[in-house]
Formats: sequence, C-alpha cells, structure tokens
Amino acid sequence: MRRVVLTVLLAMLASAGIARANNFPSHPITIVVPFAAGGPSDVMARILGERMKTTLGQTILIENVTGAGGSIGVGRALRSSPDGYTISFGHLGTHVANGAVYKLGYDLVADLEPVVLLPSNPMIVVSKNAVPAKSLKELIAWLKERAAPATAGTAGAGSGSHIAGLYFANVTGIKLQYVPYRGTGPAMNDLVAGQIDLIFDQLSNSINQVRAGKIRGYAVTDTKRAESAPDIPTTDEAGLPGFHMTLWSGLWVPKGTPKDIIAKLNAAAVDALNDPAVRKQFENLGLAMPPKEKLSPEALGAWQKAEIAKWWPMIKAANVQVN
Ligand code: MLT
Repeated sequence: MRRVVLTVLLAMLASAGIARANNFPSHPITIVVPFAAGGPSDVMARILGERMKTTLGQTILIENVTGAGGSIGVGRALRSSPDGYTISFGHLGTHVANGAVYKLGYDLVADLEPVVLLPSNPMIVVSKNAVPAKSLKELIAWLKERAAPATAGTAGAGSGSHIAGLYFANVTGIKLQYVPYRGTGPAMNDLVAGQIDLIFDQLSNSINQVRAGKIRGYAVTDTKRAESAPDIPTTDEAGLPGFHMTLWSGLWVPKGTPKDIIAKLNAAAVDALNDPAVRKQFENLGLAMPPKEKLSPEALGAWQKAEIAKWWPMIKAANVQVN
C-alpha cells in the first residue's frame, strides 16, 4: 500500500514538473544585469532580451542591480527561486574573476546553472584625448614617466575593466589608480569629460566614442583586428605582444532550475544569436559570436571552469584589496 501511494505521489510530482515546464513561461522573465544601464553588458542584454521574447512569448525585463564588481547583482539573481523567471547575466568578471577577488557568500559554479555562452568582446585600451600619446608605445612611455599613477576607470574590483587593468599592470609593471564606477557606461562619461585618464574597456562600449573622436583608442587585446574597427591595431602590432584578453558573456540561472526550463531558455537565446538582425547589431559593436559547438549549457559550464583555472592565479597574485 505504502509503495502504491509513493508511486502515485512521484507520478503526480513528475507530471506537475512536466506541466510546469510545458507552461513555461507563463509570465514575464527578468534578466538581472549586474552593471549600470547603458554599459556594454546592459546593451547586450537588452538586444538579446528583445529577441528572446519573440521565441518565449513573454516580456523580458532588464533589472540593473549594481555594485561590488557585479557581485551584488549575481547574488540577487542566484538567490531567486529556481523557476527560470530570473536569469543572471554575467561575464568573465562576474562569473570567474569575482570568485578570486571577493568572499562572495555564494559559489559561482555550485550555486548556478549555465544556460548559454554569449558573444565576446576584445578589450581596447582607451584614454581621454588630453593624454599626450598617439600610439600604445607612447602611452606606455607616458605612463612610466609619470610621478603619480594614472587613473583607470573600472566597473569595480573584479569587473572586466578592472581585470584588464590588473593584467596590463602585471605585464608592463606600471602602477594604476583604479577608479570604480557602477559600470563602464558611467565611467565612459567621465573619460569623455577628461575626469579620468584611461579605461581598459570592452570594444563594444568604446567603439562609437573612438569613431566620434571623443576618446583615443590605442589597441585591441586580440590576435586579429576587429572588423568593426580595422584602423585600430592589435596589441601585438602596437608593441605589447601577447597581451590578449577577450571578455565573453553568458546567461545562468539559480541551481535547481529544471533542465527542461533551462533548455527552453537556451533555445530562445540561440534563436536570438542566429537572428540576422541581432547578429548585425552585435557585429556593429565589434562583438564576436560564439562558435555553434559552444552554445549548449554544458559547454558554458566547461568553459567557465576552464577560465577559472586560467585567471584565478593571476588575480590572486595581484592581491586585490576589497573591503
Ligand atoms: C559593464 O557593463 O559596465 C561592464 O561589463 C563592466 C565591466 O566588467 O567592465
């Protein structure tokens, strides 16, 4: 008798799960972007969300929850219920570097389920126009001869712009004064206004300001020039060989989210990435599309672990002070 009751109960639970997945989504979904509106992460999430709603048939809301290099927004997302309605948008900074910078109170691998890898961004070295340097070599010479460290805008300790700055300081021996913002969107406003000297930025965030001549771009941290910015040399060409960094982004959901709901979210994101209009928008921003074989949730999980193994030693060696 007990075995019959248990079997019926399990069957009911299973069918409830199936019904829930079949019925997903039945109301709007929120993507938590851990950086300020108008910045590179926000822009990518909004373009993606606008197209994912077509496949999912529900509105995708963007919620900007900022601070502490994006770790506050990620914490907000992963503490929400594992039902697919709250998605954590992040990248190399928030879902890799922050684990080596902060005592997070959560585990970036154990407490999250990967959904999909998103486009990547070469980083670009940019400065305010008043900096007396026309090439990367001249910029490095100017930085070396300065008495006081130059100011580099970041999106907070552990963010992509901070990790790129740490890496640059690591390979050049140049000390920098990091100035944290809630995102590189607001940092860019101060760079254009000449309030800070530099940003090690995502190309997608700087490209239009460089094209408009409002800031100066020196080199992209990739092995090849960006199609959308063919006039900007690579770091190899500009005299800092081997200084390579691409900032990839992704989507995750809280641990325990049903696999079939993750599959639906993954399918909607892949639909968006295959949409010619979306691809055009991303390519105009200098973003590189992820390879097809890397679009499964498992592929993002494996890639995140590989990047943790690659970047944590450098970041931990930099001994980043955060309160
Ligand atoms: C942003 O959207 O502000 C960036 O992703 C921040 C960063 O990591 O540099």
